[in-house]
Amino acid sequence: MGELYVMDHPLIKHKLTYIRDKRTGSKEFRELVKEVAMLMGYEVTRNLELRDKEIETPVSKTTSQVIAGKKLGIVPILRAGLGMVEGMLSLLPAAKVGHVGLYRDPETLEPIEYYCKLPSDVEEREFIVTDPMLATGGSANAAITSLKNRGATNIRLMCLIAAPEGVKAVQEAHPDVDIYLAGLDEKLNDHAYIVPGLGDAGDRLFGTK
Ligand code: PRP
Ligand code: URA
Repeated sequence: MGELYVMDHPLIKHKLTYIRDKRTGSKEFRELVKEVAMLMGYEVTRNLELRDKEIETPVSKTTSQVIAGKKLGIVPILRAGLGMVEGMLSLLPAAKVGHVGLYRDPETLEPIEYYCKLPSDVEEREFIVTDPMLATGGSANAAITSLKNRGATNIRLMCLIAAPEGVKAVQEAHPDVDIYLAGLDEKLNDHAYIVPGLGDAGDRLFGTK
């Protein structure tokens, strides 16, 4: 089964409180989502390979380490996953960005895919799928399946908030995928919204309703 990492850092907890607060408007919400994604990036990238590099400091020659340069891909699940891309790209400027477009049918709650565009060298990349919300897990599972069907073999999932139901669904469907969360909540309500959650992430990011 994939690992589950729930961030335990005061800055992330603090910012997540304001992300959850219904009084937080779209501008601040977007900034906070970006910042939390960047802070989470520290953990999500913890196992990136390093290589030695010979350099010269002003004082002496030395061997230091740099990222080995394995190819990375960030794949937001549209729409709300877009809010996490900028924070990740500020840490990983060379990463390519793919997009998977999915929405959750309000009646059936089934994910409907309407778009998918990935970097051409899918097989060679390590992918980080981003979506603020992991509720039933239907959207994340569909996005991960879509990546795998196109040749991806190395995938991590990064969400702000999850319900236990969503974590379980992804762990069962994709046991090779590690999950990174800023917060793990109590449950889903009757409309499959995360409780306490933050409401509709896409609407809050983009000011729609
Ligand atoms: C939201 C959210 C996830 C999905 C989570 O997207 O951003 O993609 O719901 O729910 P699930 O785990 O039950 O599938 P939504 O369908 O509202 O689309 P949007 O991002 O375009 O607003
Ligand atoms: N999608 C959201 O945006 N919020 C939830 O709580 C569940 C699904």
